[in-house]
Amino acid sequence: MHRNPDPAAEAVTPLSGSRMKLIARAFAGCPDRWQNVVRMDPDTRWHLRLHSADDHDVWLESWLPGQETGWHDHAGTSGVLVVARGELEERISVLNGVMTQVRHIPEGAARRMRRRQVHHLANVSLAPAVSVHVYSPPLGATRGYEIGAMGLMRSPWTEAGRRLATRRSRLQ
Ligand SMILES: [Fe+2]
Repeated sequence: MHRNPDPAAEAVTPLSGSRMKLIARAFAGCPDRWQNVVRMDPDTRWHLRLHSADDHDVWLESWLPGQETGWHDHAGTSGVLVVARGELEERISVLNGVMTQVRHIPEGAARRMRRRQVHHLANVSLAPAVSVHVYSPPLGATRGYEIGAMGLMRSPWTEAGRRLATRRSRLQ
């Protein structure tokens, strides 16, 4: 188990998954709240915090084809994402990285991101995608992982906020 690097985040009562899903769907389903601010960046995965409160925050993310997060967790925060445009693929570490589950997230679908879950998100489609992410408590950091011969291992990078490592993957 990993300690949350932000002690203040543990002082708030986290929102329920259903509440986070409602908020994410409300933002994703209202393009007027994000379509004029969303950007697509070919060099780095783009994100913007749309809303901040004591007990949660809301992030807008864009994904060009091939952009991905790398394996990561959310340092003790849970969340829900909704794909507002396009589609994403999620890989979830199972049995400490010995196995992975792959899930397709189509436009309009929601996915829960559990507190200790290690996952990997990517746009493996040929079209840009946009997603809305709600985190509660607010996201303090993301921590990277690698999957090697011994399964899941922490990688050196830990970044504040939503600055996930950005890597490009080749489409097959
Ligand atoms: Fe994530």
